[in-house]
Amino acid sequence: MIHPSPFYSSSLGSAYLADSLDLMPQIEQGSINLIMTSPPFALHFKKEYGNVDQGDYISWFLNFARHYHRLLRDDGSFVLDIGGAWTPGQPTRSLYHFELLIALCRDVGFHLAQEFFWYNPGKLPSPAEWVNVRKIRVKDAVNCVWWLSKTPWPKANNQNVLNEYSPDMKRLLEKGYKPKTRPSGHIITKKFKDRGGSIPSNVFICGNNDANGPYLERCKEEGVKPHPARFPSQLPSFFIRFLTDPGDVVLDPFAGSNTTGQACEHAGRKWIAIERERSYLEASRFRFDLGPPEDENPEHGVVPVRASNSGRHRAKQRNDQPLLFE
Ligand SMILES: C[S@@+](CC[C@H](N)C(=O)[O-])C[C@H]1O[C@@H](n2cnc3c(N)ncnc32)[C@H](O)[C@@H]1O
Repeated sequence: MIHPSPFYSSSLGSAYLADSLDLMPQIEQGSINLIMTSPPFALHFKKEYGNVDQGDYISWFLNFARHYHRLLRDDGSFVLDIGGAWTPGQPTRSLYHFELLIALCRDVGFHLAQEFFWYNPGKLPSPAEWVNVRKIRVKDAVNCVWWLSKTPWPKANNQNVLNEYSPDMKRLLEKGYKPKTRPSGHIITKKFKDRGGSIPSNVFICGNNDANGPYLERCKEEGVKPHPARFPSQLPSFFIRFLTDPGDVVLDPFAGSNTTGQACEHAGRKWIAIERERSYLEASRFRFDLGPPEDENPEHGVVPVRASNSGRHRAKQRNDQPLLFE
C-alpha cells in the first residue's frame, strides 16, 4: 500500500491534501478517539468548495460515516457541526440534517449522545426573499451540532469544560443558600457548594470571526483568501476537552483551514487533518506559526513545526511517514 505523505506536520499532528474517502481506508481501525468535523452542507446557494444537493446528501455522507464508525475506538465520539437549509423555492425548512441524524443512528449504528446548538449572533439574514423582502421568516442563526458515539458510553467528562460561575452564583456561594423548593418542584438543599464552576449547557453562543484573528491577519498579510466557512475554535476546543484526554487522537476529515488541528495543538491532543483543496491547506499552515520549537516532543514521532526564514515558526511541507497509517 502506498503511504501518503503529510502536506505538513506539527509537533502533534499531520495535515493531508487528499480526498478523505481515499485516505481513511489506510487509517488503522479503532485508532481515533474523536472525529470533529464540519462537512459541506446541503446548501441551495453553493459555496466555492462545492455542496451536495439535498436529495443526494444522505447517501453521499453515509459513505464517509461508515469509515468514521470503523476508525473510532469503542469509547470514541463523532461530533458533526451541520447547518440547516431551506427548501428550494419555498419558505420552508429542509429536513435533510434531521434525516441525516436518523440515518447515522439507524443505518450506521451511531448513538445520539446529545444534541448541541451553536448560535452565531453575527449570522446574516437569508434567504433575502423570505426574510428581508417578504418579511415572513426570521433569520436562521443556529447550527446543529450532533454529538454521536460508537457505544452508549463514550468517554466524556464535563468537569473539563466547566464555566466560570456567574456573579450571582459567586455571591450565593459566598453568602450561602437557604434550602427551599423551587416552583418547578426541584428541592435545592444545603448541599449546594462550590464545585469549581458551572456545568455548561448544550448551547454555544459565539461568532466565527474573532476567534480566527491571527489566521485572518496572516491571510491578509500574505494576500491569501481565507477559508469561507470556518467554525470558531471554541467549538472544537470544547469537544476536545470534554471528550478526550491529552495524547488522544482527533481526526477532522473535512479540515478546511484546520481549526480542529490548531485546537488540538493547544490542548495537547494528537491530530490528523484531511482537506482536498490545496489552497485551504496551504493557508491553514498560518495557524501553526506559534508551534513549539523543532526539538520538542520527539516522542510523538511526527514532524515538528520548523522555523521559516521570516523568523516565525512555520509548518513545513514534508515527505515523512505519517502517524497511524498502516
Ligand atoms: C465547511 S468546510 C470545513 C471548515 C473547517 N471546519 C474550518 O474551520 O476551516 C468543509 C471542507 O471540506 C472540504 N471537503 C469536501 N469534500 C471533501 C473530501 N471528500 N475530502 C476532504 N475534504 C473535503 C472542502 O474543501 C471544505 O474545505
